[in-house]
Amino acid sequence: MTATFPARRMRRPRQHAWSRDMMAETTITPKDLIWPIFLTEGQDRSEPVASMPGVARLSIDRAVAAAREAKALGIPCLALFPNTPADKRSDFGDEALNPDNLINQAMRAIKDAVPDIGLLADVALDPYTSHGQDGLVEDGTILNDPTVGILMQQAVVQAEAGADIIAPSDMMDGRVAGIRDALDKAGFEHVQIMAYSAKYASAFYGPFRDAVGSGGVLKGDKRTYQMDPANIREALTEVEMDIAEGADSVMIKPGMPYLDVVRAVRDRFNIPTYVYQVSGEYAMIMAAVERDWLALDSAILESLIGFKRAGADGILTYFAPQAAKLLAD
Ligand code: PBG
Repeated sequence: MTATFPARRMRRPRQHAWSRDMMAETTITPKDLIWPIFLTEGQDRSEPVASMPGVARLSIDRAVAAAREAKALGIPCLALFPNTPADKRSDFGDEALNPDNLINQAMRAIKDAVPDIGLLADVALDPYTSHGQDGLVEDGTILNDPTVGILMQQAVVQAEAGADIIAPSDMMDGRVAGIRDALDKAGFEHVQIMAYSAKYASAFYGPFRDAVGSGGVLKGDKRTYQMDPANIREALTEVEMDIAEGADSVMIKPGMPYLDVVRAVRDRFNIPTYVYQVSGEYAMIMAAVERDWLALDSAILESLIGFKRAGADGILTYFAPQAAKLLAD
């Protein structure tokens, strides 16, 4: 029941900034943000990612500086992604299990310098395989159970290096249960799992694959394990299974084309729900901004509030530091 015009004037509360603030149904703070960072080998290096203006791969010392910046801005958590040198990539992705690989070294260095920032480690084999697939490949087929066995070991190695949240992004069946079991057996029952539960086979990951160097090498696509963009009921089943297997939180990815999925998951399940504003979404906004077709600050904030309004508890976004600065003003 609502009064009609002229008793009700919807514009009345919109007249002043203070009133608009008071009436806002959704809020966003830096605490809602997780900042994904790309890593590269070397010292004092920052390699721009061409398809992601404003984003660079950072050497570990620079990633430590980024962690300090995140802490100062009130961003609670970083997500780390390594660009593994070509000579360390192999068919089986063995480098994923190296306790001294790039991401593990970076986590130790960051934990040393900024102990109270959260670290999320992505679990999947694509940054380490010569073929760019997230799992082991045999005769063109991505093997499920043998891949899960390796991901379980990868998760333990990352937990040993200081990961607070293990985030399997591989979409193999049964990986959450396997990783939970492996972590618990290794004494890491306190380490969380954020499952990329509804991860779609998306065109919007292109710039990310440039950033981690897996795009050029990727043969074929990922449609036998990532989800069909046409499906939402299937996403709910994925989430339900990941919760049953022991996920502490779930993620929907990409973000903007899948807001209905975020809403449906939020309404149906009582679990922290995250959304990933992926590299292609970042690139789209930046490309338009570079042509003066969009205004950067308001495009960032509007895209992020949309995720919160759809029901997300938090957002992984390459805009995290800019957004945190805007929100502080
Ligand atoms: C790897 C992974 C991908 C992303 C996060 N982890 C790419 C892919 O599945 O091909 C994409 C993130 C982004 O596009 O920003 N398993």
